[in-house]
Amino acid sequence: MLTHEQNELVTRTGPGTPMGNLFRRYWIPFLLSEEVLEPEGPPVRVKLLSERLIAFRDTHGRLGLIDEFCAHRGVSLWFGRNEEGGLRCPYHGWKYDVFGQCLDVPSEPEESGYCEKIKLKAYPCVERGGIVWAYTGPPEQQPPVPAFEWTTVPATHRYISRRWQECNYLQAMEGGIDSSHVSFLHSGDLHTDPLHRGTKGSQYQRDRSPKFEVLEAPGGLCIGVRRNAEGGRYYWRVTQWIMPWYTMVPPYGDNALNAHAWVPIDDENCFTWTFTYHPTRPLTQMELDTMRSGGGTHVKLIPGTFRPIINKDNDYMIDRAAQKSGRTYSGIHGIAMQDAAVQESMGPIQDRTKENLVSTDNAIIMARHRLRKAALELKKGIEPPALDPECHRVRSASFVLPVGVPFDRAKNDAFRAKEGVAHTSI
Ligand code: FES
Ligand SMILES: [Fe+2]
Repeated sequence: MLTHEQNELVTRTGPGTPMGNLFRRYWIPFLLSEEVLEPEGPPVRVKLLSERLIAFRDTHGRLGLIDEFCAHRGVSLWFGRNEEGGLRCPYHGWKYDVFGQCLDVPSEPEESGYCEKIKLKAYPCVERGGIVWAYTGPPEQQPPVPAFEWTTVPATHRYISRRWQECNYLQAMEGGIDSSHVSFLHSGDLHTDPLHRGTKGSQYQRDRSPKFEVLEAPGGLCIGVRRNAEGGRYYWRVTQWIMPWYTMVPPYGDNALNAHAWVPIDDENCFTWTFTYHPTRPLTQMELDTMRSGGGTHVKLIPGTFRPIINKDNDYMIDRAAQKSGRTYSGIHGIAMQDAAVQESMGPIQDRTKENLVSTDNAIIMARHRLRKAALELKKGIEPPALDPECHRVRSASFVLPVGVPFDRAKNDAFRAKEGVAHTSI
């Protein structure tokens, strides 16, 4: 449970909020590169941490992320003409480059130098792993670029998608931290989804009373969860949580790894990113087809949008017969939308003064504490965790160990991302 004030602190991320200031110290994934591939292509609306912005790729291939609204009289630059090294407002022709600098105010004589004094807010962008990342914090504190494993494997080894989720980022991320729900919410799918079925791991999740052992890591938490296996052994699933909003899902068999980012659009909406990647092999056609059609942990979107076809307005197409028969435990189709449905049902921002937490919520409690601590320490000038890319180069894992063997010591190697070395998974 949190007090009202504590809940406000961890869920509000707009400009000037303590959590907003913290999040602005990290590189933020905000577009797929394919959304802004073409030089002089259409500008894209972006909302990040409650700020409205416009992204565009200019004539020279440079990426810009600037204030959405024209400095003249506030027209949205989404209408802009992307031409000759800048974005031109269609109302009176003011033009801006990727740095937000105004290049032209056609009504004023060039020698007046008027346009030099006009500059829109602009944030630096980088492309890594087929994703465009922005840094929206103080320029002098820009960290090194992210080094998550999905950004460093060849393009053939990964599949990345993003979807709009209609709730605060934190309740969505808490679902990624809490692997105890898998034995319930996703139990039907573990035996039918092509990227889960038939693995040893999907069978062990029949133990519905998992025990959590959560360890502090430099960049976040290493969350060990054990279930009973045969012959006096435990089945371990280890999730990595990396500040400020990344979770790495424990793998199944030789299937690819999955990770998520839960990025606030504003306080009542977030983008859920899903990164599927294999460290040592290209994804197969079957895997790609499954993910493109909404299998695994991806979803099918309404064409031209990032809104899932299954959504709040159609009651997530709940199938009560499938729920009753156990084909899906919840009656909702697909792992990702099962998560989204239950998380959105908590309301735009979950009221954590009313919850009743149990031992399987320990990792959530520790993550909230870590976020609050980092936000409050930042006010005192203490640097946030996980700015060092070394903290990104971790992996989730799943394995079986004899009872009594500490999971972290026995399998320490499994938690580091190593180029060309397969992940540890059963
Ligand atoms: S409002 Fe953009 S040029 Fe006038
Ligand atoms: Fe889930």
